[in-house]
Amino acid sequence: MPRPRVLLACAAAAVLIAGCGGHIEVSTQNAALHHGAVLFNQRCSGCHTLDAANARGSKPAGQAKPGERTDGPNFNVRKENRDDVLFAIRNGGFSGSIMPANVVVGKDAQDVALFVERYAGRKGSSTSGGKSASGSGG
Ligand code: HEC
Repeated sequence: MPRPRVLLACAAAAVLIAGCGGHIEVSTQNAALHHGAVLFNQRCSGCHTLDAANARGSKPAGQAKPGERTDGPNFNVRKENRDDVLFAIRNGGFSGSIMPANVVVGKDAQDVALFVERYAGRKGSSTSGGKSASGSGG
């Protein structure tokens, strides 16, 4: 028995507006930093949190059970320096197991690293503070 052909009108198809990446705090005046923030928002926000790039990928604070396997460190509270970020980008995090390597490369990687160095750790709570890193020059 032949089935009647049913036409489903997808009149209410949702249109996603590309490029609506939320609120990025970094001023466009600093092109490299802003570029880094945009890239972070696009490439890293799935697994890392950093408010300046409107990224919410880390495990929510206070969440009791373990988050997803891909939840990376929260850069609102964790300070990073540029070399470490570049290392993590090239090698896929520090453990090399979860984070994909080379999510960004070349100048893109430089910009992301610069951005993370500047903006990570700004909301650092009392955890592991007080380390005086001011070295005495030789
Ligand atoms: C698929 C998820 C995922 C993506 C995408 C991702 N990361 Fe990660 N990242 C992780 C995880 C998980 C860790 C922690 C484990 C490790 O270090 O290997 C991590 C660790 C790091 C670390 C080391 C932090 C520390 O102090 O231990 C840095 C820096 C970092 N990521 C930066 C980035 C940047 C920048 C991007 C985007 C270019 C990015 N990550 C994209 C999952 C991700």
